[in-house]
Amino acid sequence: MMNVVILAAGQGKRMHSDLPKVLQPLAGKPMIECVLDTVQKIADVSRTVVVVGHCAEVVEQALENRQGLEFVLQQPQMGTGHALQCALPALDPAAENTLVLLGDVPLVQPETIDRLRAVAGDGMAILTTVLRNPTGYGRILRQRGRIVAIVEQKDATEGQKQIREVNTGIMLLPTARLAGWLSELKASNAQGEYYLTDVIGLAVRDGVRINSARPRRSFEVEGVNSKTQLARLEGIWQDHQAELLTDAGVTVIDPSRLDIRGTLVCGRDVTIDVGCVFEGNVELSDGVYVGPYCVVRNSKIGAGTRIEAFCHIDQAEVGSQALVGPYARLRPQAALSDEVHVGNFVEIKKSNIGKGSKINHLSYIGDTDMGSGVNIGAGTITCNYDGVNKFRTTIGDNAFIGSDTQLVAPVTVGEGATLGAGTTLTKDAPQGKLTLSRAPQRTIDAWQRPVKKQ
Ligand code: UD1
Ligand code: CA
Repeated sequence: MMNVVILAAGQGKRMHSDLPKVLQPLAGKPMIECVLDTVQKIADVSRTVVVVGHCAEVVEQALENRQGLEFVLQQPQMGTGHALQCALPALDPAAENTLVLLGDVPLVQPETIDRLRAVAGDGMAILTTVLRNPTGYGRILRQRGRIVAIVEQKDATEGQKQIREVNTGIMLLPTARLAGWLSELKASNAQGEYYLTDVIGLAVRDGVRINSARPRRSFEVEGVNSKTQLARLEGIWQDHQAELLTDAGVTVIDPSRLDIRGTLVCGRDVTIDVGCVFEGNVELSDGVYVGPYCVVRNSKIGAGTRIEAFCHIDQAEVGSQALVGPYARLRPQAALSDEVHVGNFVEIKKSNIGKGSKINHLSYIGDTDMGSGVNIGAGTITCNYDGVNKFRTTIGDNAFIGSDTQLVAPVTVGEGATLGAGTTLTKDAPQGKLTLSRAPQRTIDAWQRPVKKQ
């Protein structure tokens, strides 16, 4: 078994933000949630301890829905070694290893942690990486190939600063040794802090073998200290996700103009045009086309359906061979069956739309159960709200609703009924008949246009 400690007490001054650093979002998710999602995928975790300090209440509150976390307060923050010391009482002493992760290194992947565990054996292991520009990172000192110490940038000699292998901050330590080593740390360094990295020297002294592993991709260990680094890492992560899609056969018209904030699952021969944003869990079945500049959140789109440009789709389900947009808005619980057509400036909420029904222009359909083969004319509105309560509208199969009609719910339109254009329907319309509410048309023969007064 293994303990996991996530260091998240630091302030993140360089963010210039009131939001604590570890809550700054990457791909739509607070960085620390990215780390916790990775932890969730790791096997044999005994306890997960989050060290909080700066804005501790805000961070804890943001994570209140996550199960099985233990929070430890580090106040004041006297360095990464001190942070781990604060976490000691919360650790499971029976878990032989303790993994240290950093709240501001959000993209480390579970496979990489598995590799680190594999190389640790019964000793310890550090995740290192080689950087072209290692400035700011702790440098890995080796003798005859073996790690003997880590020296921080601010304490490094000119010679040591040339070393390009750096500490990612992620390491696996033997739990039983921690209390002893951490109590020996001294703050006699350039920053006056208790460095966790000084534990390495103590481990070497005690004859503990220190192994190392490297991440497969360098973005996994990139730390975020500023909005510039955050934006850079977001870009790298988005490129990576786009590549996973194109590798799997999705046609992404321009991979640099796609944003995935969550999980996007695609079938075969899916095409995604430029500027789309996918949030939460989205599923696009075989042959789906998503036009330019659509936002799709927590929704499922059926096979062969076309979503034209500029649609906003949120918690909706669309069947197969449907046509949506351009400029359509599907709101939560909009459920469209197969072959439905929804056109421009149409908003649908909490409604079931039967097979092959068409709502092509300028309409609002809310709280409605619509049968199949229905044709909704331009400018139709379901008046579902009386200012206090919501009511449902029912429209039978093959009904024809004339343009500019208001259906004042609760109201039912029978199967095959026709409503004349401009109708304000306040009572049920019987099946198969024409119903209309319309003042008779008249012409005033003697009427004259007003003329301008002198
Ligand atoms: C640290 C490492 C450095 C490594 C780098 C990788 C040390 C001494 N240095 O440096 O070797 O190359 O990470 O990114 O460990 N934190 C606390 N309490 C504290 C101080 C920090 O919880 O008292 C947390 C921070 O919130 C952050 C993490 O620890 O999530 C790292 O702290 P930071 O100050 O950013 O360390 P670096 O200078 O980046
Ligand atoms: Ca850092």
